[in-house]
Amino acid sequence: MKFFVDSADIKEIRELNGLGLVDGVTTNPSLIMKSGGQMRDVIKEICGVVKSPVSAEVTATDYEGMVRQAGILGGIADNIAIKVPSTLDGFRACKALREQGRMVNVTLCFSATQALLAAKAGATFISPFIGRIDDMAEDGMAMVAEIRKIYDNYGFETQVLASSIRTVNHVKQAALLGADVATIPPATIRALSRHPLTDKGLEAFLADWEKTGQTID
Ligand code: E4P
Repeated sequence: MKFFVDSADIKEIRELNGLGLVDGVTTNPSLIMKSGGQMRDVIKEICGVVKSPVSAEVTATDYEGMVRQAGILGGIADNIAIKVPSTLDGFRACKALREQGRMVNVTLCFSATQALLAAKAGATFISPFIGRIDDMAEDGMAMVAEIRKIYDNYGFETQVLASSIRTVNHVKQAALLGADVATIPPATIRALSRHPLTDKGLEAFLADWEKTGQTID
């Protein structure tokens, strides 16, 4: 499973990249707002650090506008994946952008049928928003399972990019279901490594080691 960082915070991205935990980055207009920077500068800076796919989202809602903005965003770096929404114009733009050879991430996916349309449009990634469905007291992970099944039924190559991840359990469940990628907030990536028994065990080992009076180096 690939890990994308769901953030536009360059400091966090640099740090996690240094740990070898970054296979890509996803941004959206809200994350750009939180970064406080100009979108083009922020995306360019991220692409200076991460050479794998970096998603940048169009804000136009019509086909022509999406394709025009994709040209601008795609010009920032070679590893940009253009994010378009799960709408009829978005699917149309996805098809056109794929024909131009661009990577496309179809975002704001809340149903398996939207994911089916994205795959038929040749999307590189489909982003089902798990957390936002859970927020509605529904089951976001069930949607991921449906998408996985449909894609496997027909051999679609679109990668399932589990999105709107809020918890370590979301990451685990998405991995069990065979999501190709998870885009994860930095704090949740770090939380994946934590276990109280690891801390307790390490503490005990170090205490016993000190009692031996030995050193390794
Ligand atoms: C990813 O591409 C999405 O923009 C992101 O995962 C949305 O997450 P949120 O629902 O926590 O805002």
